[in-house]
Amino acid sequence: MVRVQPELAKSVSFAHFNLLANEWALPGPFDAIFCRNVMIYLDKETQEKILRRFVPLLKPSGLLFTGHFENFS
Ligand SMILES: C[S@@+](CC[C@H](N)C(=O)[O-])C[C@H]1O[C@@H](n2cnc3c(N)ncnc32)[C@H](O)[C@@H]1O
Repeated sequence: MVRVQPELAKSVSFAHFNLLANEWALPGPFDAIFCRNVMIYLDKETQEKILRRFVPLLKPSGLLFTGHFENFS
C-alpha cells in the first residue's frame, strides 16, 4: 500500500538488531530513533538501560519515537 521514494530508500538499510545485545554496531548519532511497541515486553530496569544507551546515539536535537502504549515514567 505504501512505497518509499527511491531517494529515501537509498539511505535506508534494514538489519536484524537485538536491543539486549551487549554491543550495538550502530553508526549514529541519528536525527531520530524509532523504537515502537518493543519496550512493552521488557521490565522497567531493562527499559531504562536501553533508553540510556539511546542517548549518545541521538543528536542533541534528535527525537525518540515510541509506541502509544509505552510509558517511561
Ligand atoms: C509488537 S512488534 C512491533 C513492531 C513495530 N515496531 C511496530 O511498531 O509496528 C514487537 C517487535 O519487537 C521486536 N523485538 C522483541 N524483542 C526484541 C529485542 N530484544 N531486540 C530487538 N527487537 C525486539 C520483535 O521482533 C517485534 O518485531
